[in-house]
Amino acid sequence: MAAGPDALEAVRVHALGKQGSVTALLKSLGKMTPDERQVQGPRIHGLREAVNAAIGARKEKLEAALLADKLASETLDMTLPVDMPAAGTVHPVSQVMDELAEIFADLGFAVATGPEIEDDWHNFTALNIPDTHPARAMHDTFYFPAKESGEQKMLLRTHTSPVQIRTMMQSEPPIRIIAPGRTYRSDSDATHTPMFHQVEGLVIDKGITLGHLKWTLETFLKAFFERDDVVLRLRPSYFPFTEPSAEVDVGFSVEKGKRVIGGSQGWMEVLGSGMVHPKVIAACGLDPDEWQGFAFGCGIDRLAMLKYGMDDLRAFFDGDLRWLRHYGFSA
Ligand code: PHE
Repeated sequence: MAAGPDALEAVRVHALGKQGSVTALLKSLGKMTPDERQVQGPRIHGLREAVNAAIGARKEKLEAALLADKLASETLDMTLPVDMPAAGTVHPVSQVMDELAEIFADLGFAVATGPEIEDDWHNFTALNIPDTHPARAMHDTFYFPAKESGEQKMLLRTHTSPVQIRTMMQSEPPIRIIAPGRTYRSDSDATHTPMFHQVEGLVIDKGITLGHLKWTLETFLKAFFERDDVVLRLRPSYFPFTEPSAEVDVGFSVEKGKRVIGGSQGWMEVLGSGMVHPKVIAACGLDPDEWQGFAFGCGIDRLAMLKYGMDDLRAFFDGDLRWLRHYGFSA
C-alpha cells in the first residue's frame, strides 16, 4: 500500500501512465482478433476502472490522514493573551483644542480658520501694524523670499489675529468666533517653539464692552480649569489692534509644592486681549460707530502645560509616545 502521496503517484504512473502496465494491456486490444477482444475488452477496461478507483480511494484516505495530522499538530490556544497593535493617542494640544471648541460652543461661538501661510496685509497692516511699526520686530517673523517686486510679502502667520480680519471681511456681524491653529515665530527655548498654537477669540456686535470681555474670559477659564475659584487679573497693556488692551493673568496657588490654577497666591500670564481697535473694524469695511467688539489671543500649548502639569514645551512636538502615555492621553 502506498505510504504517501508520492508513492501513490508512482503507483499510478506504473499502472496507468504512458508506459504503464494497464496502458500496455489497453494497447494490446488493438492487436487482438474481434473474438478475443470481445472477451478481453471488458476485463481490461474493468481492470482500469478498478485500479483507478483503488488509487482514488487511497488518495482520499491519505488526504484525510494528512488533514488529521495537521489539526492535531497545529492547535490554536484561544486563551493565550493577544499581542495588541500599538494604538495612537490624542495629543494634548488636540485635546485642548477640542475642549476649547466645546466650551465656546456653549457660549455661542463658532470655530473659524485661516491660512498658516498668510500675507503681510492680513497678518500686520489690517491689524493696525503698518510697515514701520516696532511691533513687527517683536514678532520674529518667518518671511518667504519675495517673488516679484511690488507683490505682497508672504509669511508664516505670527499669530491667529489675521483670522479676525478674514472673518470680519467674510461675514456680517454679529460675529462670535474662536480660531484655534498653528502659528510661527523664529524663537526656541524651554517655553518657546518656532511652531506653536494659539486660539483667537472675536466678538463683534452692538454695545460690546470690556465687561463682556471679562465675563467671557472668566467663564471660559473656570470651565477650562474646572475650578470655580479661578481668579483673573487684567493688566493694562498694548496691542496695536486693540484699544484699550489688557494682559490677563490667572491666579495660582501652591498645593503640595506644586502650582495649581485657582486662588491668588501668585499670577501667571495666560492671554492678551482688548477692545477691537476702530481702525481694525474700519479696515474690514465695517462702521466702527455701529460695531464694537473684543478680541483675545491665547497660547494653547501654554494652556495645556498649565492644565496637565507639563514643564517643557519642546516635548510637545518631539513625537515621543512614552511622553504622551505618561500624561495619560489615550485614543
Ligand atoms: N495676537 C496677540 C499675540 O499674539 C494676542 C492678542 C489677540 C491680543 C487678540 C489682543 C487681542 O500676542
